[in-house]
Amino acid sequence: MKEFKILAIVVFFSLVLYWGVEPFAHSQMHKHVESNNFIYDGKSDIAEATAKIATAKEVKKGVVEAEAKLVAKKAFWAEVAETAKLKGDAVAGEAAFAACMGCHNGAGVNMGGVIPPNLDHAGSLYDKNYLIALVKDPAMASNTDHKFADTMMHPMGSVKAMITTPQDIANVVAYLTTKKVGKLTPKVAFMEACGRCHTNKYGKMTPLGETPSFKTEKEALAHNIKVLDEQDLIKKYMGNLPPDLSMMARARSEHFMETFVENPQSQLAGTSMPRTGLSEKGFEEVYAYLNETGDPSKSARTPLGIAVLIFFGIFTVLAYLWKKHQWHDLH
Ligand code: HEC
Ligand code: HEC
Repeated sequence: MKEFKILAIVVFFSLVLYWGVEPFAHSQMHKHVESNNFIYDGKSDIAEATAKIATAKEVKKGVVEAEAKLVAKKAFWAEVAETAKLKGDAVAGEAAFAACMGCHNGAGVNMGGVIPPNLDHAGSLYDKNYLIALVKDPAMASNTDHKFADTMMHPMGSVKAMITTPQDIANVVAYLTTKKVGKLTPKVAFMEACGRCHTNKYGKMTPLGETPSFKTEKEALAHNIKVLDEQDLIKKYMGNLPPDLSMMARARSEHFMETFVENPQSQLAGTSMPRTGLSEKGFEEVYAYLNETGDPSKSARTPLGIAVLIFFGIFTVLAYLWKKHQWHDLH
């Protein structure tokens, strides 16, 4: 019995220590950001704009601008909600999609900072509400409107002049959601959603796509130079080079990744990464890819871990019975 008491005390203090270091310390060091469950209704943007008015009042500067921003955000997301109620015509949308293809054409040409992503799986990769918002106003949708005020236009900004009525927007989005081109795999999801900005070294991914194997070192070097040139343009557009994402799934929790993708500003105020508007399915695929590259042996390790724990369980029972048997005559 004495052994059990000692064990209970050791277990108790170990758990307290663990809780103090892990969940408790983390909760004190990072503010908790609520997930929006992949709903893009502008609630977090409106909350952000409201908070900025309070800050502006405190420093007695920019109050009028901050108030105007809140009005604009509310009006924008109300329009998105209205457009979302319209029934889109996918056939009419296919014709309008020609305007998108002017840029999203797979030519691999940098446009205003990045190569426009392939839209083959846009219908399942992105949330429908987000797509409506994006076609209406890319800067507002991706919550980067602070960056594209007046002088500089969002690189997709001219779409506003091409697809103008709410019905046209609903049609294009209806077309995207019915369009089916091949399967959405984790790798494809990463390339279409994150790959225009981020590399993934372990997955051999750069903004130019998957790196092929080269026969000569010269060819490999020539390719590297092209990647570096592309990255110079991305750096100029974003202000800093987006980090490599190979190990990101190990460095950050799933909750952080989810809320960061939903709204980067909520986790890193002032960050230059735009919102990407992934749907739940889109996030799952991207996250699967990040896990695959960051921890390739995870799928083999988990079942092995369970088998080891079962083994220890059985071993403990046997050891206990053996001990009882050995000490039987003495007690
Ligand atoms: C003038 C060129 C241009 C046109 C026209 C255009 N796009 Fe884009 N699009 C871009 C660029 C550039 C990006 C990347 C922007 C960035 O990452 O900052 C982009 C990004 C996107 C994304 C990913 C956005 C995200 O937040 O993850 C989607 C989806 C998209 N476009 C859909 C469309 C659709 C649908 C149309 C047509 C209705 C369209 N685009 C028209 C240039 C264009
Ligand atoms: C238009 C370019 C762009 C796209 C697209 C993009 N990112 Fe980023 N991302 C950035 C930039 C720039 C940074 C660096 C931000 C900073 O330092 O403020 C960044 C940083 C990050 C970080 C690091 C955050 C931290 O804690 O430091 C993560 C994680 C991330 N991105 C994930 C993603 C994922 C996942 C996707 C695809 C769904 C994606 N990004 C798409 C530009 C982009």
